[in-house]
Amino acid sequence: MQIESGVNLKPYNTFGLPALAQTLVRVGSDADVRRVLDHPTLGRAPKFILGGGSNIILTHDMPQVVLKVEVRGRRLVEERPDAWIVEAGAGENWHELVAWTLAQGLPGLENLALIPGTVGATPVQNIGAYGMELQDRFDSLDAVDLITGLTVTLGPDDCRFGYRDSVFKHALSGRSLITRVRFALPRPWRAVRGYLDLERRISESGVASPDAQQMYDWVCAIRRAKLPDPARIGNAGSFFKNPLVTPEQCRDIIGRDPEVVHYPLPDGSIKLAAGWLIDACGWKGKSIGNAGVYDKQALVLVNRGGTANPVTGGEVMTLAKAIQTSVYERFGILLEPEPVVV
Ligand code: EPU
Repeated sequence: MQIESGVNLKPYNTFGLPALAQTLVRVGSDADVRRVLDHPTLGRAPKFILGGGSNIILTHDMPQVVLKVEVRGRRLVEERPDAWIVEAGAGENWHELVAWTLAQGLPGLENLALIPGTVGATPVQNIGAYGMELQDRFDSLDAVDLITGLTVTLGPDDCRFGYRDSVFKHALSGRSLITRVRFALPRPWRAVRGYLDLERRISESGVASPDAQQMYDWVCAIRRAKLPDPARIGNAGSFFKNPLVTPEQCRDIIGRDPEVVHYPLPDGSIKLAAGWLIDACGWKGKSIGNAGVYDKQALVLVNRGGTANPVTGGEVMTLAKAIQTSVYERFGILLEPEPVVV
Protein backbone atom coordinates (compact mmCIF):
# COMPACT_ATOMS: atom_id res chain seq x y z
CA MET A 1 0.00 0.00 0.00
CA GLN A 2 1.39 3.37 -1.07
CA ILE A 3 0.02 6.69 0.28
CA GLU A 4 0.68 9.89 -1.67
CA SER A 5 -0.50 13.48 -1.08
CA GLY A 6 -1.34 16.32 -3.45
CA VAL A 7 -1.46 14.14 -6.58
CA ASN A 8 -2.59 15.63 -9.90
CA LEU A 9 -5.04 13.15 -11.42
CA LYS A 10 -4.48 14.38 -15.01
CA PRO A 11 -2.44 11.30 -16.00
CA TYR A 12 -5.01 9.04 -14.33
CA ASN A 13 -8.08 9.98 -16.38
CA THR A 14 -8.32 9.41 -20.12
CA PHE A 15 -9.88 12.84 -20.76
CA GLY A 16 -6.71 14.36 -19.27
CA LEU A 17 -8.65 16.62 -16.88
CA PRO A 18 -6.66 18.29 -14.11
CA ALA A 19 -7.84 17.72 -10.52
CA LEU A 20 -5.88 17.39 -7.32
CA ALA A 21 -6.34 14.40 -5.02
CA GLN A 22 -5.51 15.41 -1.45
CA THR A 23 -4.66 11.77 -0.73
CA LEU A 24 -4.16 8.93 -3.20
CA VAL A 25 -3.63 5.35 -2.06
CA ARG A 26 -2.59 2.59 -4.48
CA VAL A 27 -4.20 -0.68 -3.47
CA GLY A 28 -2.75 -3.92 -4.81
CA SER A 29 -4.78 -6.47 -2.83
CA ASP A 30 -7.81 -7.03 -0.59
CA ALA A 31 -5.42 -6.79 2.38
CA ASP A 32 -4.34 -3.30 1.21
CA VAL A 33 -7.98 -2.19 1.19
CA ARG A 34 -8.40 -3.46 4.76
CA ARG A 35 -5.19 -1.62 5.78
CA VAL A 36 -6.79 1.62 4.53
CA LEU A 37 -10.00 0.87 6.44
CA ASP A 38 -8.00 0.17 9.66
CA HIS A 39 -5.84 3.30 9.23
CA PRO A 40 -6.38 5.85 12.05
CA THR A 41 -7.18 8.78 9.72
CA LEU A 42 -7.87 7.29 6.29
CA GLY A 43 -10.24 4.66 7.72
CA ARG A 44 -13.16 7.01 8.35
CA ALA A 45 -12.56 9.47 5.51
CA PRO A 46 -14.89 9.44 2.48
CA LYS A 47 -13.41 7.41 -0.39
CA PHE A 48 -13.44 7.56 -4.18
CA ILE A 49 -12.54 4.48 -6.22
CA LEU A 50 -10.45 5.12 -9.31
CA GLY A 51 -9.91 2.48 -12.00
CA GLY A 52 -8.50 3.33 -15.41
CA GLY A 53 -10.18 6.75 -15.30
CA SER A 54 -11.74 6.16 -18.72
CA ASN A 55 -15.27 6.94 -17.71
CA ILE A 56 -15.05 9.90 -15.34
CA ILE A 57 -15.29 13.64 -15.78
CA LEU A 58 -13.44 15.41 -13.00
CA THR A 59 -14.91 18.86 -12.40
CA HIS A 60 -13.13 19.71 -9.15
CA ASP A 61 -10.34 18.67 -6.76
CA MET A 62 -10.94 15.54 -4.76
CA PRO A 63 -11.18 15.94 -0.97
CA GLN A 64 -11.97 12.21 -0.64
CA VAL A 65 -9.28 9.56 -0.25
CA VAL A 66 -8.76 8.34 -3.82
CA LEU A 67 -8.21 4.58 -3.90
CA LYS A 68 -6.38 3.68 -7.10
CA VAL A 69 -7.05 0.03 -7.80
CA GLU A 70 -3.89 -1.79 -8.90
CA VAL A 71 -4.80 -5.45 -8.22
CA ARG A 72 -3.01 -7.54 -10.88
CA GLY A 73 -3.14 -11.11 -12.22
CA ARG A 74 -4.78 -13.05 -15.07
CA ARG A 75 -5.50 -16.78 -15.04
CA LEU A 76 -7.72 -19.53 -16.35
CA VAL A 77 -9.48 -20.77 -13.21
CA GLU A 78 -11.75 -23.48 -14.58
CA GLU A 79 -12.48 -25.36 -17.80
CA ARG A 80 -16.14 -26.28 -17.68
CA PRO A 81 -17.79 -28.23 -20.53
CA ASP A 82 -19.86 -25.14 -21.37
CA ALA A 83 -17.36 -22.36 -20.63
CA TRP A 84 -13.81 -21.31 -19.80
CA ILE A 85 -13.71 -19.27 -16.62
CA VAL A 86 -11.01 -16.60 -16.67
CA GLU A 87 -10.17 -14.39 -13.70
CA ALA A 88 -8.40 -11.03 -13.80
CA GLY A 89 -7.31 -8.50 -11.20
CA ALA A 90 -9.37 -5.30 -11.23
CA GLY A 91 -6.28 -3.22 -12.02
CA GLU A 92 -5.44 -5.11 -15.22
CA ASN A 93 -5.88 -3.21 -18.49
CA TRP A 94 -9.08 -4.40 -20.18
CA HIS A 95 -7.84 -4.49 -23.78
CA GLU A 96 -4.66 -6.33 -22.75
CA LEU A 97 -6.84 -8.94 -21.07
CA VAL A 98 -8.90 -9.38 -24.26
CA ALA A 99 -5.67 -9.82 -26.32
CA TRP A 100 -4.21 -12.20 -23.70
CA THR A 101 -7.30 -14.45 -23.63
CA LEU A 102 -7.17 -14.76 -27.43
CA ALA A 103 -3.45 -15.58 -27.32
CA GLN A 104 -4.21 -18.32 -24.74
CA GLY A 105 -6.80 -19.88 -27.08
CA LEU A 106 -9.66 -18.59 -24.90
CA PRO A 107 -11.88 -16.62 -27.29
CA GLY A 108 -15.13 -14.86 -26.41
CA LEU A 109 -14.27 -11.26 -25.48
CA GLU A 110 -13.20 -10.12 -28.97
CA ASN A 111 -16.21 -7.83 -29.65
CA LEU A 112 -15.20 -5.83 -26.56
CA ALA A 113 -11.62 -5.22 -27.77
CA LEU A 114 -10.02 -1.77 -27.46
CA ILE A 115 -12.49 -0.45 -24.88
CA PRO A 116 -10.33 1.76 -22.67
CA GLY A 117 -10.14 1.21 -18.92
CA THR A 118 -9.44 -1.43 -16.35
CA VAL A 119 -11.03 -4.81 -15.67
CA GLY A 120 -12.61 -3.56 -12.42
CA ALA A 121 -14.55 -0.86 -14.24
CA THR A 122 -16.11 -3.24 -16.77
CA PRO A 123 -18.94 -4.54 -14.55
CA VAL A 124 -19.57 -1.09 -13.06
CA GLN A 125 -20.31 0.26 -16.51
CA ASN A 126 -21.52 -3.03 -18.05
CA ILE A 127 -19.37 -2.10 -21.05
CA GLY A 128 -20.74 -3.00 -24.44
CA ALA A 129 -19.94 -2.88 -28.13
CA TYR A 130 -20.78 -4.62 -31.41
CA GLY A 131 -23.68 -6.68 -30.10
CA MET A 132 -22.05 -7.82 -26.84
CA GLU A 133 -22.31 -6.54 -23.29
CA LEU A 134 -20.14 -7.48 -20.36
CA GLN A 135 -23.13 -9.15 -18.69
CA ASP A 136 -23.11 -11.72 -21.55
CA ARG A 137 -19.62 -12.86 -20.46
CA PHE A 138 -19.81 -12.22 -16.71
CA ASP A 139 -19.38 -15.03 -14.19
CA SER A 140 -18.77 -13.37 -10.80
CA LEU A 141 -16.58 -10.86 -8.99
CA ASP A 142 -14.91 -10.31 -5.65
CA ALA A 143 -15.20 -6.98 -3.88
CA VAL A 144 -14.21 -5.58 -0.52
CA ASP A 145 -17.06 -3.97 1.37
CA LEU A 146 -15.71 -0.57 2.44
CA ILE A 147 -17.79 -0.54 5.62
CA THR A 148 -17.25 -4.05 6.98
CA GLY A 149 -13.86 -4.74 5.32
CA LEU A 150 -15.09 -8.19 4.29
CA THR A 151 -14.49 -9.69 0.84
CA VAL A 152 -17.76 -10.66 -0.82
CA THR A 153 -18.45 -12.56 -4.04
CA LEU A 154 -21.24 -11.26 -6.27
CA GLY A 155 -22.96 -13.11 -9.11
CA PRO A 156 -24.81 -11.73 -12.14
CA ASP A 157 -28.12 -11.15 -10.31
CA ASP A 158 -26.40 -9.24 -7.48
CA CYS A 159 -24.84 -6.87 -10.03
CA ARG A 160 -28.23 -5.78 -11.50
CA PHE A 161 -26.80 -5.05 -14.92
CA GLY A 162 -28.56 -2.62 -17.24
CA TYR A 163 -27.54 -0.61 -20.29
CA ARG A 164 -24.21 0.92 -19.15
CA ASP A 165 -25.49 0.47 -15.63
CA SER A 166 -25.12 -1.76 -12.55
CA VAL A 167 -25.63 -1.81 -8.77
CA PHE A 168 -22.14 -0.24 -8.47
CA LYS A 169 -23.56 3.04 -9.81
CA HIS A 170 -26.42 2.91 -7.29
CA ALA A 171 -26.74 1.01 -3.98
CA LEU A 172 -23.07 -0.08 -3.94
CA SER A 173 -21.62 3.20 -5.26
CA GLY A 174 -18.64 4.08 -3.03
CA ARG A 175 -19.44 1.03 -0.89
CA SER A 176 -17.79 -1.85 -2.77
CA LEU A 177 -14.26 -1.95 -4.15
CA ILE A 178 -14.04 -4.60 -6.88
CA THR A 179 -10.76 -6.54 -6.67
CA ARG A 180 -11.18 -9.45 -9.14
CA VAL A 181 -13.61 -10.26 -11.95
CA ARG A 182 -14.32 -13.70 -13.47
CA PHE A 183 -15.55 -14.07 -17.02
CA ALA A 184 -17.37 -17.05 -18.54
CA LEU A 185 -16.33 -17.58 -22.17
CA PRO A 186 -18.88 -19.93 -23.78
CA ARG A 187 -17.74 -23.23 -25.32
CA PRO A 188 -17.92 -23.89 -28.20
CA TRP A 189 -17.03 -20.38 -29.36
CA ARG A 190 -19.44 -18.70 -31.77
CA ALA A 191 -19.02 -15.32 -33.41
CA VAL A 192 -21.38 -12.63 -32.10
CA ARG A 193 -22.65 -11.08 -35.30
CA GLY A 194 -25.35 -8.72 -36.44
CA TYR A 195 -23.93 -5.26 -35.72
CA LEU A 196 -24.11 -3.30 -38.96
CA ASP A 197 -20.51 -1.97 -39.09
CA LEU A 198 -19.14 -5.42 -38.33
CA GLU A 199 -21.35 -7.21 -40.88
CA ARG A 200 -20.19 -4.75 -43.53
CA ARG A 201 -16.54 -5.65 -42.82
CA ILE A 202 -17.31 -9.36 -42.82
CA SER A 203 -19.09 -9.23 -46.17
CA GLU A 204 -16.31 -7.06 -47.68
CA SER A 205 -13.76 -9.67 -46.59
CA GLY A 206 -15.66 -12.52 -48.28
CA VAL A 207 -14.98 -14.77 -45.24
CA ALA A 208 -18.04 -16.94 -44.56
CA SER A 209 -17.20 -18.09 -41.02
CA PRO A 210 -14.75 -15.71 -39.39
CA ASP A 211 -12.67 -16.93 -36.44
CA ALA A 212 -12.19 -15.04 -33.17
CA GLN A 213 -8.92 -13.44 -34.27
CA GLN A 214 -10.57 -12.06 -37.43
CA MET A 215 -13.49 -10.70 -35.41
CA TYR A 216 -10.99 -9.07 -33.05
CA ASP A 217 -9.04 -7.51 -35.92
CA TRP A 218 -12.21 -6.08 -37.49
CA VAL A 219 -13.50 -4.69 -34.20
CA CYS A 220 -10.12 -3.01 -33.62
CA ALA A 221 -10.11 -1.59 -37.17
CA ILE A 222 -13.67 -0.21 -36.85
CA ARG A 223 -12.93 1.39 -33.49
CA ARG A 224 -9.64 2.89 -34.69
CA ALA A 225 -11.39 4.46 -37.68
CA LYS A 226 -14.25 5.98 -35.65
CA LEU A 227 -13.07 6.61 -32.12
CA PRO A 228 -10.16 8.73 -30.89
CA ASP A 229 -7.28 6.94 -29.13
CA PRO A 230 -7.25 8.43 -25.61
CA ALA A 231 -3.43 8.18 -25.59
CA ARG A 232 -3.43 10.82 -28.37
CA ILE A 233 -6.68 12.78 -27.90
CA GLY A 234 -8.20 12.87 -24.41
CA ASN A 235 -11.78 11.52 -24.27
CA ALA A 236 -14.13 9.32 -22.24
CA GLY A 237 -15.71 7.27 -25.04
CA SER A 238 -19.39 7.87 -25.72
CA PHE A 239 -20.37 10.92 -23.71
CA PHE A 240 -24.13 10.25 -23.70
CA LYS A 241 -26.23 7.10 -23.54
CA ASN A 242 -28.37 6.19 -26.53
CA PRO A 243 -31.86 7.30 -25.38
CA LEU A 244 -34.86 5.01 -25.22
CA VAL A 245 -38.18 6.36 -26.50
CA THR A 246 -41.71 5.04 -26.96
CA PRO A 247 -42.92 4.06 -30.47
CA GLU A 248 -45.18 7.20 -30.41
CA GLN A 249 -42.24 9.49 -29.65
CA CYS A 250 -40.22 7.79 -32.38
CA ARG A 251 -43.03 8.17 -34.94
CA ASP A 252 -43.24 11.84 -34.07
CA ILE A 253 -39.48 12.31 -34.63
CA ILE A 254 -39.52 10.28 -37.88
CA GLY A 255 -42.37 12.53 -39.07
CA ARG A 256 -40.05 15.50 -38.75
CA ASP A 257 -36.68 13.80 -39.40
CA PRO A 258 -37.22 10.66 -41.51
CA GLU A 259 -33.49 9.83 -41.40
CA VAL A 260 -33.29 9.40 -37.61
CA VAL A 261 -31.26 6.25 -36.76
CA HIS A 262 -33.40 4.03 -34.51
CA TYR A 263 -33.42 0.41 -33.36
CA PRO A 264 -36.58 -1.34 -32.09
CA LEU A 265 -35.83 -3.35 -28.92
CA PRO A 266 -37.46 -6.63 -27.87
CA ASP A 267 -39.40 -4.89 -25.05
CA GLY A 268 -41.21 -2.64 -27.56
CA SER A 269 -39.21 0.50 -26.81
CA ILE A 270 -36.97 2.13 -29.40
CA LYS A 271 -33.33 3.11 -29.02
CA LEU A 272 -32.20 6.22 -30.87
CA ALA A 273 -28.58 6.86 -31.89
CA ALA A 274 -27.51 9.80 -29.71
CA GLY A 275 -24.57 10.38 -32.08
CA TRP A 276 -27.00 10.92 -34.93
CA LEU A 277 -29.15 13.36 -32.89
CA ILE A 278 -26.07 15.42 -31.92
CA ASP A 279 -24.74 15.30 -35.47
CA ALA A 280 -28.14 16.45 -36.81
CA CYS A 281 -27.91 19.50 -34.53
CA GLY A 282 -24.65 20.43 -36.27
CA TRP A 283 -22.25 19.73 -33.40
CA LYS A 284 -19.72 17.47 -35.12
CA GLY A 285 -16.27 19.06 -35.05
CA LYS A 286 -17.47 22.08 -32.97
CA SER A 287 -15.81 23.32 -29.75
CA ILE A 288 -16.58 25.40 -26.71
CA GLY A 289 -13.30 26.60 -25.22
CA ASN A 290 -10.97 23.63 -25.28
CA ALA A 291 -13.72 21.02 -25.17
CA GLY A 292 -14.73 19.67 -28.56
CA VAL A 293 -17.02 17.27 -30.38
CA TYR A 294 -15.00 14.62 -32.24
CA ASP A 295 -15.16 15.13 -35.99
CA LYS A 296 -15.70 11.44 -36.84
CA GLN A 297 -18.26 10.55 -34.14
CA ALA A 298 -20.46 13.21 -32.57
CA LEU A 299 -21.13 11.08 -29.47
CA VAL A 300 -17.55 11.51 -28.30
CA LEU A 301 -16.37 14.72 -26.62
CA VAL A 302 -12.65 15.37 -26.79
CA ASN A 303 -9.91 17.39 -25.13
CA ARG A 304 -8.66 20.05 -27.53
CA GLY A 305 -6.51 21.81 -24.94
CA GLY A 306 -2.72 21.82 -25.04
CA THR A 307 -0.30 21.80 -22.13
CA ALA A 308 -0.39 25.60 -21.94
CA ASN A 309 -4.20 25.80 -22.00
CA PRO A 310 -5.56 22.52 -20.65
CA VAL A 311 -9.27 21.80 -20.89
CA THR A 312 -11.14 21.75 -17.58
CA GLY A 313 -14.02 19.55 -16.45
CA GLY A 314 -16.12 22.74 -16.26
CA GLU A 315 -15.55 23.42 -19.97
CA VAL A 316 -16.47 19.84 -20.86
CA MET A 317 -19.70 20.11 -18.88
CA THR A 318 -20.52 23.50 -20.49
CA LEU A 319 -20.22 21.86 -23.90
CA ALA A 320 -22.24 18.84 -22.73
CA LYS A 321 -25.04 21.12 -21.45
CA ALA A 322 -25.11 23.12 -24.70
CA ILE A 323 -25.47 19.85 -26.64
CA GLN A 324 -28.23 18.63 -24.29
CA THR A 325 -30.11 21.90 -24.78
CA SER A 326 -29.98 21.85 -28.57
CA VAL A 327 -30.97 18.16 -28.80
CA TYR A 328 -33.83 18.84 -26.35
CA GLU A 329 -35.03 21.89 -28.28
CA ARG A 330 -35.04 20.05 -31.60
CA PHE A 331 -36.13 16.53 -30.63
CA GLY A 332 -37.64 16.87 -27.13
CA ILE A 333 -35.14 14.33 -25.77
CA LEU A 334 -32.90 14.90 -22.77
CA LEU A 335 -29.58 13.09 -23.31
CA GLU A 336 -28.12 11.46 -20.22
CA PRO A 337 -24.32 11.57 -19.75
CA GLU A 338 -22.67 8.16 -19.79
CA PRO A 339 -19.49 8.86 -17.76
CA VAL A 340 -19.62 9.48 -14.04
CA VAL A 341 -19.39 13.24 -13.43
CA VAL A 342 -17.58 14.10 -10.16
N1 EPU B 1 -24.06 8.41 -36.18
C1 EPU B 1 -24.18 9.56 -36.91
N2 EPU B 1 -23.34 10.61 -36.62
C2 EPU B 1 -22.40 10.52 -35.66
C3 EPU B 1 -22.29 9.34 -34.89
C4 EPU B 1 -23.15 8.29 -35.18
O1 EPU B 1 -25.01 9.68 -37.80
O2 EPU B 1 -21.67 11.49 -35.46
C5 EPU B 1 -24.93 7.27 -36.50
C6 EPU B 1 -24.11 6.17 -37.17
O3 EPU B 1 -24.00 6.35 -38.53
C7 EPU B 1 -24.88 4.93 -36.81
C8 EPU B 1 -25.47 5.28 -35.47
O4 EPU B 1 -25.41 6.68 -35.31
O5 EPU B 1 -25.93 4.73 -37.74
C9 EPU B 1 -24.78 4.57 -34.32
O6 EPU B 1 -23.38 4.86 -34.32
P1 EPU B 1 -22.29 3.77 -33.91
O7 EPU B 1 -22.54 2.50 -34.63
O8 EPU B 1 -20.96 4.41 -34.04
O9 EPU B 1 -22.59 3.45 -32.39
P2 EPU B 1 -23.03 4.39 -31.18
O10 EPU B 1 -24.46 4.12 -30.88
O11 EPU B 1 -22.64 5.78 -31.44
C10 EPU B 1 -22.50 2.60 -29.35
C11 EPU B 1 -21.84 2.60 -28.02
C12 EPU B 1 -20.32 2.55 -28.18
C13 EPU B 1 -19.96 1.28 -28.95
C14 EPU B 1 -20.67 1.31 -30.30
C15 EPU B 1 -20.46 0.03 -31.06
C16 EPU B 1 -23.28 3.81 -26.48
C17 EPU B 1 -23.53 5.08 -25.75
N3 EPU B 1 -22.21 3.80 -27.27
O12 EPU B 1 -22.12 3.81 -30.00
O13 EPU B 1 -19.74 2.46 -26.89
O14 EPU B 1 -18.56 1.19 -29.15
O15 EPU B 1 -22.11 1.45 -30.09
O16 EPU B 1 -21.20 -1.00 -30.48
O17 EPU B 1 -24.04 2.84 -26.31
C18 EPU B 1 -18.84 3.73 -25.08
O18 EPU B 1 -19.74 3.27 -24.40
O19 EPU B 1 -17.99 4.53 -24.63
C19 EPU B 1 -18.76 3.36 -26.49
C20 EPU B 1 -17.84 3.87 -27.32
